[in-house]
Amino acid sequence: MLLLTLESTCDETAAAVVTGELEVLSSVVASQDELHRRFRGVVPEIAARAHVERILPVIDEALRRADVTLDDLDAVAVANTPGLAGSLLVGLCAAKALCVAKDLPLVAVNHLHAHIYACRIASGEDVFPCVGLIVSGGHSSLYRCAGPTDFHYLGGTIDDAAGEAFDKVANMLGLPFPGGPALSKIAENGDPAAYDFPRSFLNDPSRLDFSFSGLKTAVRYAIAGPGKQDFSTLDLDETTKANVAASFQQAAIDCIAAKAMLALERTGVSTLCVGGGVAANRRLRKRLETDAAAAGAKLHIAPPHLCTDNAVMGAIAVEKLKAGKVESLDLDIIPGLVRQ
Ligand code: KG4
Ligand code: ZN
Repeated sequence: MLLLTLESTCDETAAAVVTGELEVLSSVVASQDELHRRFRGVVPEIAARAHVERILPVIDEALRRADVTLDDLDAVAVANTPGLAGSLLVGLCAAKALCVAKDLPLVAVNHLHAHIYACRIASGEDVFPCVGLIVSGGHSSLYRCAGPTDFHYLGGTIDDAAGEAFDKVANMLGLPFPGGPALSKIAENGDPAAYDFPRSFLNDPSRLDFSFSGLKTAVRYAIAGPGKQDFSTLDLDETTKANVAASFQQAAIDCIAAKAMLALERTGVSTLCVGGGVAANRRLRKRLETDAAAAGAKLHIAPPHLCTDNAVMGAIAVEKLKAGKVESLDLDIIPGLVRQ
């Protein structure tokens, strides 16, 4: 069985060719970071237009690297939820066109489920049942995953995603977009206890939710003040920047790790799978390793190149295809989070 998987939910245009045995024959990711950098965030209209320009060359390259043609494929899979509407549409239209042209089945991929499935692909082991934690630029969610096609939403952010907070705080500190990697780098030289930033819901065992908006605002008040601010005019010394970065990162990590552990406790599941761009963060990975070990849980964190958006994780479609879950060509995009 040979599948072409497409990913265009946000600002990466990606395609991969995978087998029914989860062997990855090729993976191509065209990042748009350069296009969005000067706006210090993803501009949806620019993202959609860039997907239109890139999707066909990216598909061609994925097929070429896998040394296969469209005639060799058994199905086409595409992430149709959640994400930016214009971005999602490009991937879905491309997938439908290929299915019509080659009379292939269409498989729908939930981008968040796919982030968790990246752990299955990377580990080569059956990771289910597990608690799935996604911490990315657009989402921060916890799931109980009974199996690869059976996800139950446990909780998530009520405002900003963790990655959004990393990106905005990085921007306040004058770091380039996307800010997560740059912020974590300068945080290495800072004191994580220098600022006592808020940790929402940390001591509320009744909630498996996150909130990062107040944390973002607290950082802003610590270095600037209320009202409209041009952060490029802030003249912060390197020590202050490093301390703010380290303290912010520590507060975010404390919340993420605590709720992941609470989810394990509440579900009675003993495996934790973690994915999404923020899961590339070294400190977070270390902390989850320590906490999972203390809780006697098995931990799988996707390797960094499978944490950020990619099409390899779309191989979750293999499971759906095997379970007979294929879509009609009426399949639509669902930009918002579906709580399942
Ligand atoms: O999963 P992803 O590629 O896209 C979404 O689906 O949102 O995640 C991108 C996010 C960005 O916010 C980026 O700053 C963050 O992941 N990120 C990191 C690190 N690497 C990427 N955040 C913290 N530490 C990192 N090392
Ligand atoms: Zn993602």
